[in-house]
Amino acid sequence: MQVKVRVPATSANLGPGFDVAGLAVTLYNTFVFELLDEGLDIRGCPVQFCNEDNMTYQAFKEGAKACGLEFNGLRIDCSGDVPYTRGLGSSSTCIVAGIVGAFAFKDKYDARQEILELATRIEGHPDNVAPAIFGGLTVSVMNETVTTLNIPVKHDYRFVALIPPFTLSTEKARSVLPQQINRSDAIANVAHLALMVASLINGYDDGLKLGFKDRLHQPYRGHLIQGFDEIMTILEHDEKVLGCYLSGAGPTIMAVISGDDLKGVVRIKAELGHLLDDWQVEKLELDMRGYTCDYE
Ligand code: HSE
Repeated sequence: MQVKVRVPATSANLGPGFDVAGLAVTLYNTFVFELLDEGLDIRGCPVQFCNEDNMTYQAFKEGAKACGLEFNGLRIDCSGDVPYTRGLGSSSTCIVAGIVGAFAFKDKYDARQEILELATRIEGHPDNVAPAIFGGLTVSVMNETVTTLNIPVKHDYRFVALIPPFTLSTEKARSVLPQQINRSDAIANVAHLALMVASLINGYDDGLKLGFKDRLHQPYRGHLIQGFDEIMTILEHDEKVLGCYLSGAGPTIMAVISGDDLKGVVRIKAELGHLLDDWQVEKLELDMRGYTCDYE
């Protein structure tokens, strides 16, 4: 039996929703799992990841433990378009796929809440894994359990991902954050998050530019990303860009435009000019399904 799991890329934080908010977008990684009599055979990813430390394999082992699957060997065949270490949830695709793959061998591939709990424990925070599991825009609260809610998004938005040629590890991007913040920054973030979520629900586009503003992580991470301040300033001055934010821990920057802004990508590329040299630009939509899993 082969189990095929497809997981969407995700864009976390959306500015003020640090470790809380995230959305799934239409870029995917696909993983095919097959049980073997012995050994580990990982294909389709860079050679440095083809070993026992592989994140998908580690997550599969955790998933197997959780659902009581015993196995002696495993083949994992990976493919897809989600760039590594760019702030688009590539590690979450690996973690979610590994757990779903193991659960599928026990016919439990759709146990989404259980998969969320385990994936959050492995990842450390729920903001990427939740939309990768449920699709759409999610907010999550991590306590003893994880509470995730899908937020209905009213408007027909497009998400223009500006993906730099360089990587930024989440570990490094978290290491520059302060341990404490002052009250005015905390209040601003609570206010902006509330405005952002309410604006997305109501299709109130005028609330988004302010609603995406953040004081918890973006100001500390910007200097790690070449051109960050200039790019954000230009996007904020584009009247047709509804909002922009650092995607996850970066370095990808996300610009939100309306579905009827058909020339948005061309205009953004022209405005940013050489700042986007060698950057990949992807116009994405919300993925509403989360992971899918097929097997016979
Ligand atoms: N919320 C996380 C962060 C997302 O910003 O560090 C990346 O894993």
